[in-house]
Amino acid sequence: MAFPHLFSPLQLGSIELPNRIVHVPTDISSSHADGEVSERDIHHHRDIARGGTGFIIVGATTPDMATGRPTVTCLVADGDNYVPGLARLAESMSAIYVTGSTSGYAT
Ligand SMILES: Cc1cc2nc3c(=O)[nH]c(=O)nc-3n(C[C@H](O)[C@H](O)[C@H](O)COP(=O)(O)O)c2cc1C
Repeated sequence: MAFPHLFSPLQLGSIELPNRIVHVPTDISSSHADGEVSERDIHHHRDIARGGTGFIIVGATTPDMATGRPTVTCLVADGDNYVPGLARLAESMSAIYVTGSTSGYAT
């Protein structure tokens, strides 16, 4: 087998990933106009998790609306009011890491 460890678990800090398949961050620009998590965000990421991907990195997420947003409808996480939606997004997957971005793609 070319990648003998691909389907074996991996310890990442306190999290055990079920395999080493990673979904790179891809902003699908489908959040609400104010940056709130949308149902489309939930369905998109949940479906990737259901496919068996071990680790999903969510795309561009602005930590400060005042300094910019890489796409008009990317996620926003610059206030406590966004926490419930982001928590719901996290719960819809098995693992999550949110990339922060102010003016472009960044981690
Ligand atoms: C449609 C699209 C959206 C992307 N959105 C993000 C993003 O939000 N954040 C980020 O860090 N990278 C983003 N990227 C970059 C990808 O995560 C990845 O680094 C890039 O596609 C190169 O992958 P590769 O090294 O496997 O060829 C995006 C790429 C594409 C094609």
